[in-house]
Amino acid sequence: MADRAFPHRHLLGIEPLDADDLRQILDLATAFFEVGERPIKKVPTLRGRTVINLFFESSTRTRTSFELAAKRLSADAVNISGSSSSTTKGETLLDTAANLMAMAPDAIVVRHAFAGAPHQMARHIDAAIINAGDGQHEHPTQALLDAATIRRHHPKAIAAGGDLRGLEVAIVGDLAHSRVARSNLLCLTRLGARVRLCAPWTLQPLGLLRLGGDVTAEAARVCTRLDDALDGADVVMMLRVQGERTIGEAPRFPNTREYSRYYGLSARTLARARPDAIVMHPGPINRGVELAPDVADGPRAVILDQVAWGVAVRMAVLYLLAGGRGSEPSA
Ligand code: CP
Repeated sequence: MADRAFPHRHLLGIEPLDADDLRQILDLATAFFEVGERPIKKVPTLRGRTVINLFFESSTRTRTSFELAAKRLSADAVNISGSSSSTTKGETLLDTAANLMAMAPDAIVVRHAFAGAPHQMARHIDAAIINAGDGQHEHPTQALLDAATIRRHHPKAIAAGGDLRGLEVAIVGDLAHSRVARSNLLCLTRLGARVRLCAPWTLQPLGLLRLGGDVTAEAARVCTRLDDALDGADVVMMLRVQGERTIGEAPRFPNTREYSRYYGLSARTLARARPDAIVMHPGPINRGVELAPDVADGPRAVILDQVAWGVAVRMAVLYLLAGGRGSEPSA
C-alpha cells in the first residue's frame, strides 16, 4: 500500500480521498512514527526540498508539527504568520502565494479563516498545497492523526491490525464551527467506523449529515443528548466551543456552566461509554468546559498521543506530496 502511487497533488480535504488513500497515508505514518522514537530523529528523505508554513490563524499543534515533520525529513522549513506577513498591508492571498512561489517551494501548508482558501491557492500555483485548516470547512491532517491514534490506541483497532470497521465514535461539542468534526466524519466513516455527532441544536450546522457528502444513515447519526452519544461508544472525541467564531453574535447557550453540565465529559458521564473507550480532543482544551480535568489527564485520554501522531502523519503527507517518493522512511 505504501508503495502505491498517491493519486493526488494536494491535500485540500478528506473529501477527495478514498479509503485506499487514507490507509496509504496512515500506513506511512506508522513507518514515520518510529523515526520520532530514534535518538537522531531525522531521515534524508526531503533533503533539498522547501516547505513553507503559511498560517493566517493561530496554531500551536499543527504549525509546530508541520515544521518538525519537515525538519525530520531534512526539508528546509519556513514559517510565516498572517500577522507578520504583507497581507496586513493589503496584499491579497493570491499575490502572497505568487510571491512565495517565486521562491520555488515544493509545498505550502496553509491555515486560513476562510473556507476554500487552500483550494484557491491550488488553482493558481504549482507547489503542493496542504490544508492545515480552512475556516469551518476541513482540517484533513487532524482527522488523519485522529484515525492514526485510534488505530494504535484502541484495543479493538489494535487487535484488528488497525482496522476501524465497526468502531462507534462519538464526536461531541461545537459541531457548528468545527472543521475537525467534518473531516473526521468523512475520514472515520470511509474507514468503516460509525459516528455519532452530538451537540445542542444551536451548535449544529444546518443539514449536518449532508455536510459529510456520501455519509450514509447507517454510518452516522446526529443526537442532542450526551447520553445517546456516549452509550456504548468506543471512542469519545470532545470538541471545544469556538467562542472566537461567534464574537458579537447572540449566545448559543445560556452560560458555560450549563453547557458543561449537559455536554461536558466527566468521569460520571464517561461511564456510559464502553469500559475500554478512549478519550480524544484535538486541542486546545477548555478545561472544565467540554472536558473535566481529571478525564483530560486520566488513563483513558490519548490527547497527547494525538499530538505525537500529528508529526508522523504530517511527515507522511509531506513525503507523498513534496517529492519524497523513492526515498524509504528507513533511509
Ligand atoms: N488541533 C489543532 O489544530 O490545534 P492548533 O490550533 O493548535 O494547531
